[in-house]
Amino acid sequence: MRQLIAGNWKMNGLTEQAAAIAGPLRRGADGLGCDLLVCPPATMIGTVAHILVGSAVAVGGQDCHAKASGAHTGDISAVMLRDSGANWVILGHSERRSDHGESDATVRAKVLAARAAGLAPIVCVGETEAQRVAGAAEQVVGGQLAGSLSDGFADGAAPGVVAYEPVWAIGTGRTATEADVAAMHAHIRATLTALLGPAGARVRILYGGSVKPDNAAGLLAVPEVGGALVGGASLNAADFLAIARAAR
Ligand code: PGA
Repeated sequence: MRQLIAGNWKMNGLTEQAAAIAGPLRRGADGLGCDLLVCPPATMIGTVAHILVGSAVAVGGQDCHAKASGAHTGDISAVMLRDSGANWVILGHSERRSDHGESDATVRAKVLAARAAGLAPIVCVGETEAQRVAGAAEQVVGGQLAGSLSDGFADGAAPGVVAYEPVWAIGTGRTATEADVAAMHAHIRATLTALLGPAGARVRILYGGSVKPDNAAGLLAVPEVGGALVGGASLNAADFLAIARAAR
């Protein structure tokens, strides 16, 4: 399976920056050995999709509502993301879980909405520092997977993806050790197989949390690491492409 390098711009990017990042990505993506995805803020999806049309770089959203349409002021549905040029959506990011109180059940409803709209979901899971110190990391992540994934998660031409992002490694410059990543990714693979049967083997498991050009090669070489979810470093095209070149 090709690795997936996904960029999560979070709440960053106006028209000028979007063009400054997407333009070089379009030119730099040819001949890469991995799949490349950028997830700009919703306001920029149309602009970025227009710049990247026909290129090797896919476009995704950072969240969607569980309903396709209706009286939900300020929300954006999976169908709308698809209509604006996205083929992917990040769901259950720890910042959504903490800023907006999203539960596993909420994430699961969004996964179903994404699948129904033809979007491939990237479901984020990960423990807090306190949970890791307490020795509960695997239990927490297993629970998040069991609660967030739906039947059919791994079906179709674009199976869903899981991103393991230890909360304490996001935006902090700290990363999990390669041994910890290997252990957690093996645990996630076993959990996916238990939950989804043989289809669980089709799910790529990304690592996320302070992935940078200088640590990408080591993290991407860890067994069961199917790519990276990149925040801060995805806002610089040269850094993001350097991470992509470290992928398989
Ligand atoms: P970071 O963010 O690379 O800036 O740590 C990763 C993420 O939150 O997806």
